[in-house]
Amino acid sequence: MLEELLTKLREITASAAADLEAAKTEADIDAVKNRTLGRNGAVTALSSMMGKLPNESKRDAGKAFNEAKTAIQDALNAARERLESVVDEKNKIDVTLPGRRWAIGTKHPVSQAIEDACAIFRRMGFIAVTGPELEDVWHNFDALNAPLTHPSRDPQDTFYLEDGRLLRTQTSAVQIRTMMGRKPPLRIVSPGRCYRRDTPDATHGVHFHQLEGLYIDKQVSLADLKSTLMTFASEFFGREIEVRMRPSFFPFTEPSVECDFSCVMCGGKGCNVCKNSGWLEIAGAGMVNPKVLENVGYDPKEVQGYAFGFGLERLAMIKHRINDLRLFSDNDVRFLHQF
Ligand code: PHE
Repeated sequence: MLEELLTKLREITASAAADLEAAKTEADIDAVKNRTLGRNGAVTALSSMMGKLPNESKRDAGKAFNEAKTAIQDALNAARERLESVVDEKNKIDVTLPGRRWAIGTKHPVSQAIEDACAIFRRMGFIAVTGPELEDVWHNFDALNAPLTHPSRDPQDTFYLEDGRLLRTQTSAVQIRTMMGRKPPLRIVSPGRCYRRDTPDATHGVHFHQLEGLYIDKQVSLADLKSTLMTFASEFFGREIEVRMRPSFFPFTEPSVECDFSCVMCGGKGCNVCKNSGWLEIAGAGMVNPKVLENVGYDPKEVQGYAFGFGLERLAMIKHRINDLRLFSDNDVRFLHQF
């Protein structure tokens, strides 16, 4: 009986020591403690055998129990100390190490174009306003004099919501909101995101940014539009730029024009950016159609105005010589960090 007891105690002590050496967490250590010295532990269970031992063995057995308990307790303490020192080591700060570098982001080239453009127009008296990207048909089409048969209204071109609203296809909707809310004279620009059901390629995306401009006053003419765009272009691109107008059509302007800028790269001599034409197509524009003025409650006999709209991605692409629109939304930091 005594021999059996001593063997078991030795086994328990040895396995506890091995487990404690391998212990990685506080919980591992507690588990060993419970398994051995705990209320239902192996050592505790063995002590019930003590009573059954012959009297002459009791002394040796008691001694063995005490030794086993001390050994296990020492191993538990050692394991705890070892864990604590690991934690300490981890928390130690080496003040001689170089500091951690924070990655600093850069402004997206389209955001930069928006800020630059708005700042330039601000100096010419245009206030920046914004409107909702989720629009109703009236602001995006009806009030802008788009006939019911206009192809841009087609669900193939426009994203409609189930409730009949749509993702605006042009910032021109903001013209309407602004005129409805304010009295002339007014001079605003409105940058923002627009959506169209285009198949994405190097020059088309399902979303892109436009900047709308609107000037309403007494006696406004196309000449004012031209000089405004010339000033803008020269400041935005940092060189003298000519503006050319070609007849065009938009339901909300009459007459309507397509505005070309003299090529930013070659100055008009002809290069691969302007495909040797010397000109870059930039903006749609025109004199605000009197019907639109009536739709917002202005008197076309009293006031006129011009409006223009251009794509901000296109401006940024020309400025930075970027050849694919998709780069703007890929969010590759190697691309974005160049600006
Ligand atoms: N909204 C037109 C477009 O998206 C551009 C434009 C704006 C034309 C203002 C004329 C006046 O193509």
